[in-house]
Amino acid sequence: MMALFWEAMYSISTFTARALGDSYDFAAHNRLLDVGGGQGAFPVELCRRYPHLSATVFDLPHVCDLAEDKIAESGMGNVLPAGDFLDAQPLPSGYDVILLSMILHDWDEASNRQLLAKCYAALPPGGAVVVCELVLNSERTGPPAAALMGMNMLIETEGGKNYSETEYTTWLLEAGFEQPRIVPLAAAGANAAIVAVRGK
Ligand SMILES: C[S@@+](CC[C@H](N)C(=O)[O-])C[C@H]1O[C@@H](n2cnc3c(N)ncnc32)[C@H](O)[C@@H]1O
Repeated sequence: MMALFWEAMYSISTFTARALGDSYDFAAHNRLLDVGGGQGAFPVELCRRYPHLSATVFDLPHVCDLAEDKIAESGMGNVLPAGDFLDAQPLPSGYDVILLSMILHDWDEASNRQLLAKCYAALPPGGAVVVCELVLNSERTGPPAAALMGMNMLIETEGGKNYSETEYTTWLLEAGFEQPRIVPLAAAGANAAIVAVRGK
């Protein structure tokens, strides 16, 4: 069941990662940390699209093993020793962009704010966080794919749901990030990336 879930996640995320790489320019970044990166679809696709970029998966132990296989197959990206982004340890540093793809919809607001604070602390001045999700509109009335994914998260997780662009933007600003902006995408796994920077 687990292997099937991660294969499906990898497959969907391959297309989302390509859409992200087309819509957001990673030229200004050199080292990407993919927090909760799963099997590494984003590192693989983003390194293909941006050959100067190095990209690293940070995930739980049983997932790192699966990611190692995909990364070895493609020759793109790498995997850190397993970690838990909910524990009291800081996130690994030395990266100038942190990706959170389909992560925040798994958790409640307090956990998400805590994770964004850890991202802020791990980034250097000028570093960026990229939140890639099916984002609800400010009224939380749609679009349909984001509302349906939100229902899925309400059923499958303890505190997760899909959030609106207003919620993400507010949390990012309150975590200390600056200049949050919405980068629209068209993919099954995300309709936008919300990008914000740690000030200099
Ligand atoms: C919905 S999947 C998203 C995977 C990937 N980011 C993508 O978009 O394809 C959520 C990921 O978060 C990881 N995860 C969940 N809890 C975690 C934790 N406490 N620490 C690190 N990773 C975690 C899961 O193992 C899984 O790979």
